[in-house]
Parts: sequence; C-alpha cells; structure tokens
Amino acid sequence: MQNKVIIYGGSGGIGFATAKILQGRGYDLHLVGRNEDKLAACAAELGASFTAGDVTDVGLFARAAQEAGDTLAGLVYAVGTINLRSLQRLTEADFLDDFRVNALGAALAVQASLPALKRSTGVAAVVLFSSVAAQQGFSLHASMGMAKGAVSGLTLSLAAELAPKVRVNAIAPSIIRTPLAERMLASEQMATAMAGLHAMQRLGVADDVAALTAFLLSEDAGWITGQTISIDGGRSTLRTKS
Ligand SMILES: NC(=O)c1ccc[n+]([C@@H]2O[C@H](COP(=O)([O-])OP(=O)(O)OC[C@H]3O[C@@H](n4cnc5c(N)ncnc54)[C@H](OP(=O)(O)O)[C@@H]3O)[C@@H](O)[C@H]2O)c1
Repeated sequence: MQNKVIIYGGSGGIGFATAKILQGRGYDLHLVGRNEDKLAACAAELGASFTAGDVTDVGLFARAAQEAGDTLAGLVYAVGTINLRSLQRLTEADFLDDFRVNALGAALAVQASLPALKRSTGVAAVVLFSSVAAQQGFSLHASMGMAKGAVSGLTLSLAAELAPKVRVNAIAPSIIRTPLAERMLASEQMATAMAGLHAMQRLGVADDVAALTAFLLSEDAGWITGQTISIDGGRSTLRTKS
C-alpha cells in the first residue's frame, strides 16, 4: 500500500480521531497501543491492522514496523503521559519513564520505520506530540516539560536529517478531553476552571487535534517541516485579562 500510515497510540483519544479522518480519506492504517482488546476493536472498526505492545519495551518498535509493511506514507506518535508533581516529589524513575514514553519512544518509532518511510513514492510525513508545557512554564510540570521539550528538539533534528524525503513536525496541544486528561478534568468544576484559562474559553477535543495531524500528514502541508505547532486555544501566547 502506498498510502499507509502507522499510528502509535492509535486506540487513544487523539490517535483514534486521527485514524478515523485518515480512513475517510482513503489511507490504509496500522495501529499500535497497549491494551490489545481496545486496539483490536479500534482496528476492526477501521479495517486496520495492529500491533499490541508497550513503548517502554524496545522490542515493540521493530515488531510494529515489520507488521506495518514495507512502505509507509506517514507515522504518528500519539503516546504520552501527564505526570504532574512538584520537583520534590518527582523521582528519577518518574523522569526516566516520562522521557521514555514521550520522547525516546518517538525517536525509536521513527528509527524502526525509516526504511519504510523512505520507500514512500512521495514525501513521507511524521507527526510527533509535544505539549503546551514545553511552550510555557507551568509549576508541577518539570518532568513533562523536560520530556515534551525533547520532542521539539527531536523534531528539529530529524526534520533536518531526513529532508527532503521525510517531513517531520510536532504538535503542542493544551488540555484535550481524552482519557489521558481525565484526572485533570475529574469534576465539571475543574473542567470549567481549566477551560477559562484559555482565550477560546473551552477545552480542546480530540477532533481539533486530529484535523491538524491529518493536515500535517497530507501533501497540502508539503512545505512545512521542522515545526512545533501549538493548538491550545491561545493558552501559550494570549492573556485576555490584564
Ligand atoms: N490530552 C491532552 O490533554 C494532551 C495535552 C498535551 C499533549 N498531549 C499529547 O497528545 C498525545 C496523544 O494523547 P491522548 O490525549 O490522545 O492520550 P490517550 O487518549 O490516553 O491515548 C494514548 C494512546 O497511547 C497508548 N499508550 C499509552 N501509553 C502507552 C505505552 N506505554 N505503550 C504503548 N502505547 C501506549 C494508549 O494505548 P492504551 O490505551 O492501550 O494504553 C492510547 O492508544 C500524547 O503524546 C500526549 O502527551 C495530550
């Protein structure tokens, strides 16, 4: 298949919303995630193939790349953590785990699929996930900010190294209503307060981010590479009250 995309986190909020858009546009899909039952259900809905495994197991990447097939038009790495603790409470294991899942996993995923991306007839595209927490400083985000900042650095390096055959961009969302953000939005009161911190006065939804992801994968984005693009209702740059 010449228009196949591998989506790490393809059973998650943003990954699955992206997969649905891509399927509607005629892409073939390979989904990767942890929970095999959930992944199989998502794949069945979209007629996709899948690989189940944990990105902290480095053996996963070669297996997923092999099972995805020998040619890929794109790769999305939509796997992440939200681990909010004061510096005093963060352990070495927290820092290493957040780095592994958010940043190292992204690098190893691209590395494993690079031969298939290079076989694409057109320019292949990679979309990684950074965060608003690497665009603006927030307390309790030391481990997240560090891991997601690394994704932006990785994006720049890979975009330079892989041009002109592969474009590489990252997306930096603020809070999106997905299972990952569930704990931060546990009550309606918390969700309303969080929404009010954004100039657009609402939280993001998976479809907001999926639309940008699908655009960055498409040929319409053919001259965009090496960018970390914010999608955050204005959170990283705007203050509506002085
Ligand atoms: N939601 C937000 O507020 C927000 C804000 C900023 C950045 N982001 C970033 O956006 C990306 C997508 O997040 P999301 O909100 O869509 O998250 P989500 O709904 O929790 O989905 C995460 C996906 O990744 C998979 N996954 C998680 N940990 C994994 C692991 N260790 N190994 C393999 N697969 C794993 C999950 O599979 P299982 O369900 O099987 O575990 C699921 O498919 C992430 O990089 C995240 O950091 C999200």
